[in-house]
Amino acid sequence: MIIDILTLFPDMFDGFLSTSIIKRAIDGNKVKINIHNIRDYSLDKHKRVDDYAFGGGNGMVLMPEPIFRAVDDLKTDETIIILMTPQGKPYKQKKAYELSLKKHIIIICGHYEGFDERIRTLANLEISIGDYVLTGGELPSMVVTDSIVRLIDGVIDENSHLHDSFNDDLLDYPVYTKPYEFRNMKVPDILLSGHHANIKKWRYEQSVQRTMERRRDLIEKE
Ligand code: ADE
Repeated sequence: MIIDILTLFPDMFDGFLSTSIIKRAIDGNKVKINIHNIRDYSLDKHKRVDDYAFGGGNGMVLMPEPIFRAVDDLKTDETIIILMTPQGKPYKQKKAYELSLKKHIIIICGHYEGFDERIRTLANLEISIGDYVLTGGELPSMVVTDSIVRLIDGVIDENSHLHDSFNDDLLDYPVYTKPYEFRNMKVPDILLSGHHANIKKWRYEQSVQRTMERRRDLIEKE
């Protein structure tokens, strides 16, 4: 899979690309992640990428030209183009699974003060990572990329994500490690019983109970 990210702040991605599972996936050729500076696609002699809004108002608006040029340059017949914006569709694990099967994704990081409406016509999908406003689409693009890359075949042990929260619309069950007793808190005895069927049942019940307590909306939707 190739992920091309269009941003005004390429430096923000340095740590993200050189750490942990993302780095391992890149080194293992499971994914290629290219960061493109939108400014490089500006035709303006000062490399301007934004300007005042027609009709007035505060703030600068990202111009369409550099984004359209970048997309023209990178797009193929198999490309999915995502625009990161708080006005997008709320992002869910199901979408991460869908996207993890694609060959090529372009992610456009929105600008904190807005982007020209015509940029929307490029996108197959507009995504919001939550009902709050960030200074730009860079962190949201990393959230989406991280959630996709960990699901690509061979990046992490499949068993690790088979039991993720939100699969089957349930939150994850509680897990414990050593020591058995820590500051008066003990590991539930069932987990030491060695009885796999009972452990499986207990874990499922814990998932359901936890989801009912914390995220009833996941169970009761529709
Ligand atoms: N850009 C700024 N805030 C955002 C959000 N919540 N989701 C996606 N993109 C954004």
